Amino acid sequence: KLEVVHGRDLWPVKVDVSQFEQVIVNLAVNARDAMPEGGRLMVRTANLTSQEAAQLSYKGMPAADYVRIDVGDTGTGIPTDIVDKIFEPFFSTKEVGKGTGLGLSTVYGIVKQTGGFIYVDSKADKGTSFHIFLPRHHAEQDLQPDAPGATSAAKGASAEAKPRADLTGQGTILLVEDEEGLRSLNARGLRSRGYSVIEASNGLEALEALEEKNGAVDLVVSDVVMPEMDGPSLLKAMRGRNPELKIIFVSGYAEDAFEKSLPENQQFAFLPKPFTLSQLVAAVKETITPA
Ligand SMILES: Nc1ncnc2c1ncn2[C@@H]1O[C@H](COP(=O)(O)OP(=O)(O)OP(=O)(O)O)[C@@H](O)[C@H]1O
Ligand SMILES: [Mg+2]
Repeated sequence: KLEVVHGRDLWPVKVDVSQFEQVIVNLAVNARDAMPEGGRLMVRTANLTSQEAAQLSYKGMPAADYVRIDVGDTGTGIPTDIVDKIFEPFFSTKEVGKGTGLGLSTVYGIVKQTGGFIYVDSKADKGTSFHIFLPRHHAEQDLQPDAPGATSAAKGASAEAKPRADLTGQGTILLVEDEEGLRSLNARGLRSRGYSVIEASNGLEALEALEEKNGAVDLVVSDVVMPEMDGPSLLKAMRGRNPELKIIFVSGYAEDAFEKSLPENQQFAFLPKPFTLSQLVAAVKETITPA
C-alpha cells in the first residue's frame, strides 16, 4: 500500500528533478525489497522551520529552513550492526545479482550535492524511515550569487549556470535493464528528450524486440550483468543481426572486468553506475550522433 502525504505550500528547493526521482525510486525499491509479504510505503513532504530544525537531534544538520521528505516502510528494518554501513558503495545484504549496493550511495551523493541531509531510523520488524532535508531555496539569491551571505548552495548553482547543451535527439533506443523502476524512469527521461524507447527486461527480450523491429534500432543501452544472457553475449547476438548497432554498456563493475570476454574489435560505449539521468542522456546523445 502506498501512502503519499504532500505538505501544504512547500518552499522551493533547488534540485535536479531527474536526480531526485532517482532518490525516491531507490528508496522505494529498497522498501519494496524489505516487505516481501507486502506492507505500507509512506512518502511525506513538509516544511521544517529553522526553530523546528533546532529541536531535532540529527547530527551535523545546522538549524535552518528545510523541506523534509520522509520515505518510510513497514518492512524488516535494518539490523543495528549494519545501519552505519548502508550508505557505503557496494554494501548490500542482497543475493548476488539482486543488489549491487549502489542504491543508497547514489541517494546519499545526490542529497549531499544539493546541500541536503539524510538520516535513517529503523526498528527490527517494525520498519525503516529515511528522512531527507533539503535546504529552502531563496530565489532572489540567484540574482547576486556572490553577495556576502549567499548560501553555498546558491553559489554552486551559479557555477553551473553556463548555457545548457541541447540534449534532445532522435532515434530508437532499446533499453535493457532488469530493475523495472529504474528502467521506466530512464525510459521516461529519454522519451521526454525526443527518443523512441523500447524496453526489455533481459537479453532474450531484447533480441526479440530487435527481431520485431527487423533490426531497425539505433542504439542499445544495456546492463552488463544480467540474468539469462549477459551483456557481452547480447552484443554478439545483436551485432550479428545489425553490425552497425551502437551499444552503451552500463555497469557497476570496472570496464576491464568484462572487456576481456568481448569479441575483439567490437566498439561500445561504457557508462559506469551509478549515473544520473542527465549523464545517461548525455551519453546517449554522444553515442547516437554520427561523429
Ligand atoms: N528500507 C529498507 N529496509 C531494510 N533494509 C534496507 C532498506 N534500505 C536499505 N536497506 C539495507 O541497506 C543495504 C544497502 O542498500 P542499497 O540500496 O545501497 O543497496 P541494495 O538495495 O542492496 O542494492 P541496489 O540498490 O544497488 O540494487 C541493503 O542491501 C539492505 O540491507
Ligand atoms: Mg537498493
